[in-house]
Formats: sequence, structure tokens, C-alpha cells
Amino acid sequence: MVALVGAHTIGFSHCKEFSNRIFNFSKTSEFDPAYNPVFAQRLRKLCANYTKSPAMSAFNDVYTPAKFDNMYYKNLQNGLGLLSSDQAMVTDNRTKPFVDRFAANETAFFDMFARSMEKLSVYKVKENNDGDVRRRCDQFNTLQV
Ligand code: HEM
Repeated sequence: MVALVGAHTIGFSHCKEFSNRIFNFSKTSEFDPAYNPVFAQRLRKLCANYTKSPAMSAFNDVYTPAKFDNMYYKNLQNGLGLLSSDQAMVTDNRTKPFVDRFAANETAFFDMFARSMEKLSVYKVKENNDGDVRRRCDQFNTLQV
């Protein structure tokens, strides 16, 4: 799973996916203290009007957003994990060793990513009553208008 989520080395996420981490996070902190504070302030600025502009988004990998590399894991080590599920991988002792390994060794990440994608493919594509190949990743096809 840690290798697969490394796909977040590319692409972006809409503000609503992490808004709970940057606005009114807790009684003592406006933003999630797991964030690098400078990064958190930039996200707060970027997403200030996200309810009115729901397309507003941030790169998943702030440094090399369009390059498939191991920067995503280095970012996690520095409080630059955008989603809480990204950051959780470095705070949880069960997953942190993998984050550290992939951050230190890009070839190890590439190898494990390829193997994990192969493993996923063994589960086959779910169709008809077994599942949906979604036209939109965040919706069942039947819910589409
Ligand atoms: C714990 C598992 C995962 C969670 C919770 C998760 C969550 C998310 C969320 C919330 C977004 C932002 C969507 C949006 O705002 O439109 C996103 C984007 C993305 N995810 Fe994941 N993801 C997970 C695993 C994966 C895996 C396994 C892959 C691929 C192997 C992947 C590839 C991507 C990509 C490429 C994007 C960027 C999409 C774009 O730029 O349009 N994610 N993910």
C-alpha cells in the first residue's frame, strides 16, 4: 500500500480533500501541526475561497508534481504530505520504514511500485454485479446524472 500510494508523486487534490487539515483544525491550532507550518500557510492562502471556487487544487507532490520520482516520500518526511492519509504513513510505525526506504532509494520504490501494480492486476477487473469500472473515480456509475 505504501508503494502504491507513491502514485501521489503526480497529480493534484482539490482543496475540499484536505480543508479539514488547514481550517479550524483544533481548539489549539488553525492547521494540522503535522504540516510544515510554511506549507500549511500557503495551502490556507491557496484554498481561502475553495467553497466558492471548488476547482481550486494543490499538487500532491509540491516539488516535482509532474515527475514520477520518489520526491513524494521525501516530502512526507518534511511535513509536506498533502492528504491526511499521506501524512499518516510517516507517523505510523508500521508504514514509516517503507517511507524511509523509498525516500532514500528511488530504485527500491520503482521496483515495489511495479510489483504492487502487478499484484493488483491479479484481482481482475470487477464488472456487472461484482463492481464498477468507474467513469468518475469518486462516484459509482449508477449515481451519475
Ligand atoms: C490510501 C489510499 C488512497 C487514498 C486515500 C487516496 C486519495 C486521493 C485523493 C483524495 C485524491 C484527490 C482527488 C481529487 O481531489 O480529485 C487523490 C488523487 C490521486 N490519486 Fe490517490 N489515493 C489513494 C491511493 C492511490 C493509489 C493506489 C493510486 C494509484 C496507484 C493513486 C493515484 C492518484 C493520482 C494519480 C491522483 C491525482 C489525480 C489527478 O491529478 O487528477 N492514489 N488520491
